[in-house]
Amino acid sequence: MRVHVLAGVSLLFLVAGCNQMPGTPKPDSEVPRPDSVTDFATLYNEYCAACHGKDGQNGAALDLANPLYQAWVDDATLRKIIAEGEPGTLMPAFGHEAGGLLADAQVDALVHGMRTAWQKPGTLNGQTPPPYQAAGQGDASRGQAVYQTACARCHEQPQTKITNSTFLALVNDQSLRTIIVVGRPDLSHPDWRSDIAGRPLTGDEVTDVVAWLASQRSQTPGQPYPQPSVR
Ligand code: HEC
Ligand code: HEC
Repeated sequence: MRVHVLAGVSLLFLVAGCNQMPGTPKPDSEVPRPDSVTDFATLYNEYCAACHGKDGQNGAALDLANPLYQAWVDDATLRKIIAEGEPGTLMPAFGHEAGGLLADAQVDALVHGMRTAWQKPGTLNGQTPPPYQAAGQGDASRGQAVYQTACARCHEQPQTKITNSTFLALVNDQSLRTIIVVGRPDLSHPDWRSDIAGRPLTGDEVTDVVAWLASQRSQTPGQPYPQPSVR
């Protein structure tokens, strides 16, 4: 029976001719070249949603739909991160020049699409967040004090510990700064305005606490390796 079906299929190809062989695109049904797609939803779902979440939230990586994030970061920074990736994190480089799949016009379409979908006028409501980029190195010992006042109450349980070297190996200083300043509303994470002694964190405090977390990194995250079992 199976033989007959296969024979029938081959016969069909013979009748239809070589142009209709599987894998030979028909001229009138050509699929668009992947780098000509500039629809935001298509690009976002294809390349970003797996890590940043469907609709820009509840993913493993930062919720890009946070209006505070969209108010804080500028276009040039977004373009650079998408094209070149974020070294020291799992954020890949998508630009052609970095060996990625996206053309410049597609990176622009993602930036423009995020603004249209997720920026909300009036989000900052006259408040000025600490700048996107840290002004200097920061002071780790002052940062430890900031950690005690601003972070420890939520981050001392084993499941939420952020001071272990394995976690810190997966994030760079900017991604720490980002979550401290704009929070993660999808995880109920507070932003820089959270109540620290009745006031928001200053830019220096943010820089200092990042410096302290960075000082907890290890050159050999995950060490000590488990000893090979001796038999
Ligand atoms: C393999 C997972 C992964 C994919 C896919 C991915 N990202 Fe990321 N992205 C990350 C991680 C991890 C970070 C850094 C840590 C964090 O912010 O959560 C990050 C950071 C970012 C940042 C910077 C946040 C900041 O601190 O300013 C932007 C912007 C961003 N991603 C946009 C995108 C866009 C747009 C796409 C799709 C083209 C995308 N990402 C695809 C994992 C991913
Ligand atoms: C009100 C409680 C609360 C406070 C205060 C708080 N956090 Fe968090 N933090 C959370 C929660 C909840 C999460 C999410 C845990 C999870 O599910 O990964 C989190 C996650 C994080 C993460 C990891 C995000 C990720 O990608 O998994 C970092 C980094 C972080 N917080 C830094 C800080 C720092 C630094 C401070 C102090 C400036 C701080 N947090 C203050 C509740 C808090």
